[in-house]
Amino acid sequence: MTPYQTLSAKSFGPNFQWGVAMSAAQNEGAYNVDGRGLSIWDSFARRQGKIKGAAKPSEACDFYYRYKDDLVLVKALGFSAFRFSISWSRILPEGIGRVNKEGIAFYHKVIDECLALGLTPYVTLYHWDLPLELEKNGGWTSHQMLKWFTRFVQVCTEAYGSKVKHWIIMNEPMGFTTLGYMMGKHAPGKTGLLNFLPAIHNAALCTAEGGRLVRDAVSKAKIGTTFSCSEVMPFSKKEPDVLAAKRVDALMNRLFIEPALGRGYPEVENFPLLDKIHLHNKAWKYQERMQFNFDFIGIQNYFPITVKYNSLIPYIHASEVKATQRKVPVTGMGWEINADSLYWMIKRFWLYGSVKEIMITEGGAAFKDQLVNGTVNDQARINYFQQYLAAALRAKKEGVNLSGYFAWTLTDNFEWSEGYAARFGLVYTDFKTQLRTIKNSGYWFRDFLAGK
Ligand code: NOJ
Repeated sequence: MTPYQTLSAKSFGPNFQWGVAMSAAQNEGAYNVDGRGLSIWDSFARRQGKIKGAAKPSEACDFYYRYKDDLVLVKALGFSAFRFSISWSRILPEGIGRVNKEGIAFYHKVIDECLALGLTPYVTLYHWDLPLELEKNGGWTSHQMLKWFTRFVQVCTEAYGSKVKHWIIMNEPMGFTTLGYMMGKHAPGKTGLLNFLPAIHNAALCTAEGGRLVRDAVSKAKIGTTFSCSEVMPFSKKEPDVLAAKRVDALMNRLFIEPALGRGYPEVENFPLLDKIHLHNKAWKYQERMQFNFDFIGIQNYFPITVKYNSLIPYIHASEVKATQRKVPVTGMGWEINADSLYWMIKRFWLYGSVKEIMITEGGAAFKDQLVNGTVNDQARINYFQQYLAAALRAKKEGVNLSGYFAWTLTDNFEWSEGYAARFGLVYTDFKTQLRTIKNSGYWFRDFLAGK
């Protein structure tokens, strides 16, 4: 018997929140119906060579039409919470101004269905799908972002505040600013520091401001926000590698949480990129507005990374030594499987001392799943969950106020620039027919939650 076989949801206590998470752009489809405006992902996907297999999010998992069946699946698997995001361009097709009633009505239906099934809705306000019209005016690089985001948040809280009490302001600001505004790998495909620096700052400001807006508008709200995090390990003990790891760590793990906690942007000696961020921030004079007293912090940890010094890479002087080169166990994305690093990241966030509660707002892995005779035997994903849940439990038992875990994700969905090839779901999606098949990991989760 492996040590994991004794693991059941009961070990986490009766008040632990178990959920699944998904996002609008990755699941809804129905990109041009009922008055929805376009998002940056609709247009980015049309650019040649940007997304594997030239995939588009236009239909995704058709959640817009299948939400009822999908929510029944969430319930049937035994989860008690459902995290989803609101498509800004469905609610405000031009990003600001006119409200689209049909968009508002759609999320009312999703929320009502959750409540009818006894699922607690966790609403993410921003999960990477900026309205295209706003991008045309600079998107996250524009100082108008705060004003635009304020309007969006106010429309959402006014519409759903009486029904939804759990709000997540921002999904992984490091993810969308780096991939979308520095490396050009995600929408809107921008590159370079001139885009990255203001995008960071606007994301940090909107995260905190969003918290304040929800606090003002929604009585008894529990307000959180999510951060990606990765344990960063130096390739060797040599000083340049250790320095490289320190720098990457500051960017990947500290850049957004520290301003949110009121510590300002992180400091690392002799790190020109951080100096630039500090300078930029001073020019904007909004240090105090980046802080908000969140009720919970969402951690999303998918992989640790190993880095070494690289003088050819400007600003960071570090490069990643891929997991595949190091011959460690990996997921279908080539991401290192290392549950200890989830444990360490939970501990690190907790050690700030001012984080009140931590939730794992996403956790999961993609593997090369195959549907054979109606079954998806994804033992690798079951092993993954067993190891990562055991690591989370270890941190909880050591005193961290860890209050929930959301599996990423319910159905295989649109995995951004990876298109539909990367399957993260507990449920297999046949993207031609939209038929859903519960994978063995889905059944495993059901038994785990039932305490079997
Ligand atoms: C984090 C993102 O929030 C989510 O959208 C994405 O699908 C997962 N990582 C997996 O890459």
